[in-house]
Amino acid sequence: MSPTDVAPSAILVVAFGTTYPETRRLTIDACEQRIAAAFPECETRRAFTSTIVRRILARRGEEVQDVPSALARLREEGFRRIVVQPLHIIPGEEFHRKILFEVASYRNQFAGLAVGRPILARNEDYSVLALALKEQLPATVSAGSGEAVVLMGHGSAHPANAAYSQLQLLCEDAGLPVYVGTVEGYPELEQVMTRLRRDRVRRVTLMPLMVVAGDHAVNDMAGDDPDSWNSRLRAEGFEVDCYVHGLGENAAFQEIYVSHVLDALQADSEVDEPG
Ligand code: CO
Repeated sequence: MSPTDVAPSAILVVAFGTTYPETRRLTIDACEQRIAAAFPECETRRAFTSTIVRRILARRGEEVQDVPSALARLREEGFRRIVVQPLHIIPGEEFHRKILFEVASYRNQFAGLAVGRPILARNEDYSVLALALKEQLPATVSAGSGEAVVLMGHGSAHPANAAYSQLQLLCEDAGLPVYVGTVEGYPELEQVMTRLRRDRVRRVTLMPLMVVAGDHAVNDMAGDDPDSWNSRLRAEGFEVDCYVHGLGENAAFQEIYVSHVLDALQADSEVDEPG
């Protein structure tokens, strides 16, 4: 089935948001554009879930809506079928509270209202992400070479945080020298370093497992502060390179969202239990 066979009237692309204009252009905007290009007969709109980000942007003169106000406006403008596509990586707190919960109350106001799933929701999503990650692995990284990639995910107190461990296990099973850690969840860098030593890795390339290379990527991952992953790995004797680009820059990664929009259209409505 081609994207145009199942066109909704509007696609609402929902990101956490960022206040860094440069990375936003390369990541969130690029993902929105990729989706818009795949569904040319649909109106593509944006919403950000982060209240703080929206407030800062408003002060700079840019209004970005949250999910309820974006849906209210689409309804006022007469759109009848909507797909809400999150750019989030895991179906965590933001996804449940700021997207699913909000969308549920608009359900009766449209002829169709479906929610696409985040990047990691179904078991098969993990190998799709791993394939997209392969596109950005440095050429020198291979199993047993002593060089590896360490991904910095966000992490969460939400049960969906287990997605990071599933991704780690899939990479191990696939023989990919990729290690997964999180800033605010589990595994932490400590556990990642134990695996690196076990596998005799000496040199790592740090990459954000995040759509946008914002504060976490620039400071917590690549920064010179002694607490950054960059500094902590160096202090433990690892050679470190930093790849400060959000996943949203990766064309193969952008394409995952297009396929999730398609899946949402075909599944009629995934409002209750996506994935
Ligand atoms: Co954070």
